Amino acid sequence: MTDQLEELVQQAQVDIAACGEGRALEALRVDLLGKKGRVTDLLKQLGGMAPDERKAYGERVNRAKETLAAALEARGLALASAELEARLASERIDVTLPGRGEAGGGLHPITRTINRVAEIFGEMGFEMVEGPEIEDDFHNFGALNIPDAHPARAMADTFYVLNGARLLRTHTSPVQIRAMQKRQPPIRIICPGRVYRVDSDRTHSPMFHQMEGLYVAEKVSLADLKYDIQNFLSRFFERDVEALFRPSYFPFVEPGADVHIKWTLPDGGWRWLEVLGCGVVHPKVLEAVGIDSEKYSGYAFGMGMERMAMLRYGVDDLRLFFNNDLRFLEQFR
Ligand code: PHE
Repeated sequence: MTDQLEELVQQAQVDIAACGEGRALEALRVDLLGKKGRVTDLLKQLGGMAPDERKAYGERVNRAKETLAAALEARGLALASAELEARLASERIDVTLPGRGEAGGGLHPITRTINRVAEIFGEMGFEMVEGPEIEDDFHNFGALNIPDAHPARAMADTFYVLNGARLLRTHTSPVQIRAMQKRQPPIRIICPGRVYRVDSDRTHSPMFHQMEGLYVAEKVSLADLKYDIQNFLSRFFERDVEALFRPSYFPFVEPGADVHIKWTLPDGGWRWLEVLGCGVVHPKVLEAVGIDSEKYSGYAFGMGMERMAMLRYGVDDLRLFFNNDLRFLEQFR
């Protein structure tokens, strides 16, 4: 009988140690120590013993019960903490993985270019104003001294709407007119915006962006224009830009010029590249908006933003700016 108890305890300890899961351990506990358990069964044998035997045996069974209860509890704790470890390991969040969140946005290269030009002219005292893209003949042509017969008015050169009563502006120069109609000099403004022409190839798009500049005050001259443009170009391209002012005709300026910059080519050679049109504001333009052309003078310029962006970023096809191909646009993030 003693051997039976000894054997049961030894076997139970082996079983407890081998038990790998909480529910199985609980079943084992019931099987050993429950009301109908095997250890409890052994206690029932007390009834058939002599009183002196009974005491010693009862003590042994109780010790065995305590031993097994302690072993079960220790095993239970070990299993619980192992299960917790396993859960923590399987549910662990790897904080070193890159996030899946929103891709960061960025400004379009044309917007960046406009901002850059505006910042440089802003420091030179120019204020930014905007005007409508749907214009009338007076602001887009008439007030700018563009005669009725001028080729720029031909149907093929722009987009007319409302049976010709309105048109999509062909340049940002009408914003000059609107600004001068609103107030008297001194006026120092830049005007970015979309313009429209019937034009489409690798370097022309039917819609593109210009930046107009206008400075009207007393004694503004061609010298001011040259100085400011030269200064702007060097700041924009972050180097000493060699600029050439080549006489050119625009009805709203006199004299007028196209500005070219010396551009180094990949093969080491160079060429002149046109970047903007400019000139001294024609007295007729000042008079068309009620500004005294004897007292005031001014300069104006119009610059293509796509051209500036292409030069600055080394882009060789203007249409890339409008295709909305993220592989292109993401490079400017
Ligand atoms: N408006 C002219 C163009 O679109 C550019 C320009 C602006 C020229 C101001 C002179 C003065 O080509």
